[in-house]
Amino acid sequence: MVPVVKRAPVSLRDLGARAIHAALADAGLEKVDALYVGNMLADELSGQKHIATLMASHAGLVGVEAIHTRAATASGAAAFRVACLAVASGEVDLAMAMGVELMSAGPPPERALTMALDAQREIPNGLTMVEANAQLMALYLTRYGVEQARFANFAVNAHRNAVTNPRALFRHRVDATRVVNSRVISEPLRLYDCSPVCDGAAAVILCPAGRAPGVHPSLVRVLASAVATDRFAVADRPDPLAIEAARQSASQAYKQARITRREIDFFELHDAFSIMACLQLEACGFAERGQGWRMAEEGEIFREGRLPISTLGGLKARGHPIGASGLYQVAEMVLQMRGEAGPNQLARTDLAMTQSIGGAGTTVFTHILGW
Ligand code: COA
Repeated sequence: MVPVVKRAPVSLRDLGARAIHAALADAGLEKVDALYVGNMLADELSGQKHIATLMASHAGLVGVEAIHTRAATASGAAAFRVACLAVASGEVDLAMAMGVELMSAGPPPERALTMALDAQREIPNGLTMVEANAQLMALYLTRYGVEQARFANFAVNAHRNAVTNPRALFRHRVDATRVVNSRVISEPLRLYDCSPVCDGAAAVILCPAGRAPGVHPSLVRVLASAVATDRFAVADRPDPLAIEAARQSASQAYKQARITRREIDFFELHDAFSIMACLQLEACGFAERGQGWRMAEEGEIFREGRLPISTLGGLKARGHPIGASGLYQVAEMVLQMRGEAGPNQLARTDLAMTQSIGGAGTTVFTHILGW
């Protein structure tokens, strides 16, 4: 993982190459057979297409299979899934999934981010990614009669965990008062309900189970890889607060891993907005509908709680360099499982789950790691 920063003083290709070389060094390898690259915004913000081959060429992996994967804000998780399928099929021996995003250095990313929504039916009405999440939060607060202040611990937890993560963008603690009084971004969303605009890259390497020579001695197993989608436009969903794709992909993943959700030790979820974190906890069955915020308020999501989330800062405070985030999540789970998370180390790390969301709850990837 490359440290997440604002206005990275390097090019998109250098950022990606750093993550590629870091992953190779960690695994004790010089090359891989395939490179899958998650990136959402390079076309619009860097004027660059064909990015996977560019990355392979620039990082010294000339000749390898190189494919760009896209699923909007879940593009990194898409790269990870494709790498899983490539290895599981037996077609590829060593696959790297890398995610890279340079979103703070050039033109403002808002317009390009919004292109994850429906260009005919949502964008012309002025909907943006921030606005879509603001509407979900407004609906939630009204339907369940919850005060917004009760969401504050999502940000408090993420920022607390980021303080001791040297790769996190934000290294300052915030308390609930500061969260609640932060500036309004789009009513009712406040600054600390949102993930930031930033740059980063992360990569992981997959190999067939049981392959030992030449790779890191402490291999983690991918127990499940699932993805589900919902009706594209939010307004077409019978209940926009249900995040049906999160529910479906989580339930497929539990089945694949042959576990129940109660066995999950920690959950790196897609806390791009605090409302999304809350809705995911509900969709995945960790909280009843309308009760997800309670897990934050009662401290269940803290490192010492029942289900720690965002254990190294999450999208909120480690940062959300869009196409890279899904790979930061997986790499951070591996750190926790190897016992290498330093001051952020959790006590129980045998089963880890991650979710990554493309669009406003539209495409949801779930991965479960174990031993
Ligand atoms: N959380 C906490 N602090 C933040 C922040 C965030 N999400 N975003 C910016 N800041 C801080 C900056 O560090 C800076 O602090 P400083 O003055 O102490 O240096 C200050 O706010 C101003 O930063 P700036 O980048 O100018 O803020 P902004 O108003 O342009 O952007 C948001 C704030 C919330 C609008 C922007 O971060 C955003 O658009 N986030 C959502 C991105 C998104 O949609 N991602 C896709 C999700 S799926």
